[in-house]
Amino acid sequence: MCGIVGFTGRHEAAPILLEGLSKLEYRGYDSAGIAVRKGDTPVRIVKAKGRLKGLYEKTDSGKAMEGTCGIGHTRWATHGEPSENNAHPHCSDDMNVVAVHNGIIENYQELRDKLSRKGYTFYSQTDTEIVTKLVDYYYKKYNIGPIDAIAKTMVRVRGSYALAIMFKDYPGHIWVARKDSPMVIGVTDGECYVASDVPAMLSYTRNVYYIDNLEMADLGNGEVHFYNLDGDEVKKELTEITWDAEAAEKGGFEHFMMKEIHEQPKAIRDTFNSVVKDGRIDLSSVGLTDDIIKDISQVIIVACGSAYHTGMVDQYVMEEFARIPVRVELASEFRYRNPILNPNDLVVIVSQSGETADSLAALREAKAQGIRTLGIVNVVGSSIAREADNVFYTLAGPEIAVATTKAYSTQLICGYLLALQFAYVRGTMDEERYLSLIAEVASIPEKIEKIIEDKERLQFIAARLANSQDVFFIGRGIDYAISMEGSLKMKEISYIHSEAYAAGELKHGTISLIEDGTIVISVATQDDLYEKTKSNMVEVKSRGAFIVGITHYGNFEIENTANYSIYVPKLDTHFMASLAVVPLQLLGYYVSIGRGLDVDKPRNLAKSVTVE
Ligand code: M6R
Repeated sequence: MCGIVGFTGRHEAAPILLEGLSKLEYRGYDSAGIAVRKGDTPVRIVKAKGRLKGLYEKTDSGKAMEGTCGIGHTRWATHGEPSENNAHPHCSDDMNVVAVHNGIIENYQELRDKLSRKGYTFYSQTDTEIVTKLVDYYYKKYNIGPIDAIAKTMVRVRGSYALAIMFKDYPGHIWVARKDSPMVIGVTDGECYVASDVPAMLSYTRNVYYIDNLEMADLGNGEVHFYNLDGDEVKKELTEITWDAEAAEKGGFEHFMMKEIHEQPKAIRDTFNSVVKDGRIDLSSVGLTDDIIKDISQVIIVACGSAYHTGMVDQYVMEEFARIPVRVELASEFRYRNPILNPNDLVVIVSQSGETADSLAALREAKAQGIRTLGIVNVVGSSIAREADNVFYTLAGPEIAVATTKAYSTQLICGYLLALQFAYVRGTMDEERYLSLIAEVASIPEKIEKIIEDKERLQFIAARLANSQDVFFIGRGIDYAISMEGSLKMKEISYIHSEAYAAGELKHGTISLIEDGTIVISVATQDDLYEKTKSNMVEVKSRGAFIVGITHYGNFEIENTANYSIYVPKLDTHFMASLAVVPLQLLGYYVSIGRGLDVDKPRNLAKSVTVE
């Protein structure tokens, strides 16, 4: 939620800030702004409502703002409507302090009242303006330096924040602070960068520092100094980012989402090869030894959105293979319900960004109860990756489109490989089956390539879907989990109301919604449940539904019931989510395009949800 950038060096800051913001626009895009300063002249702030394009126009692509030090922000509104007034950067009344912020200040009202009593006035509805003025207040009241003023502010505010701040008295310096909101700092060739996410600085540097929770930093003169809350300096190691800059570009595709759909085979191969050697799984890089695996009594998978949907698949696969109880929970529910956990449980947090606020809080809850935690995470160095006891990285590379595709697909692979290894180590699967199922997983990328090659066919049915009001997805078992993901893909980028139901649940209420022409997408890849799902298709068809059936090649008689059929290659049924999801991703994409929508940046959404 919200993207922040900062730069201080020898080059003009504004174009660098704008370029950085363009890489972070996936984090929020209802307004944007930059503050730039030339030497010790006063800071200039320019903001624009709406997409970044407006800010480019207002600043003549940055040329209208001279200066080599600045901060910028692209906003996903939390406090206060999207407007120019509420856009960041915010400033104290005399421009002594200028700041951008990602996160939420929970006790903003109390702080606003306090500052009002001290004579401060407010021009916006944002919590950021309050935190900016609080820094100013402490700075002046105690006549202290930036680090002490920021530290006092950090102690006083509740909530989450990544802050980048400029002080009038310190030209050429940017001060940053962080709690529960991501932030990376890059240094190269005597210049310093700060951003919410790596892609914002990838074209300049791959050498970054990760600032930890409740830490601050001072960027200036080509150096970065880190401090803890006591104001003591903290030493940090530089980390090299191995993604190349191109990975975060569209690479000839019209949209990131389509590019990322095409990247799935490679992302899956990379993730698979990271732990499979000579056809066998080796989880030593994850830190899960056979002894640890044998001791686990229950697995609890906690995640949000699509990551939660991969957990649903994992539940079916792991329980079936390893005969171990698996629970899957929404992180936003788990964190507040005082969950009962046992000492030998394993809590698995699945998250592309590694920064989702609810998932991070769930991880901390499990850790506070002394439970082993495993993160299945894409972003290296993210909070979940750093705080979990064990990490299984999905090697999907940067995922920019708000609608996840390749991260989802690689999360599934991690789930399959964990399930297989648990089964083998715990003795519920013999060697022959273990090896043949690993080979089956290895075949997934090639099969996805075939589905993608045939993608144009889906445009026909997408055109039919583009005019519908509602779409229902149904399936049983793993097909239900796939339906959940297909439905989310459809609604988040096409804005068509869609729901997923366990097919057996239809007649307990939902079937009353089916009328002439209602679209029902039936996922029927599970051979043992195929006949049952087909009966549900017949039930809705006899009430007028238009049915799109998804199954594997061979089940051609689905055409007797479905009005339109989509086939994917055959694969062991446990892994079918990996194939069936691809046409559903493509359908969501084509329907969104057909409706003339912004596929990569759907309204009201942001890529990583770092606030509750
Ligand atoms: O970064 P995370 O994997 O923790 O994000 C979880 C969800 O916010 C995410 O999967 C969301 O549902 C996607 N927009 C779905 O496409």
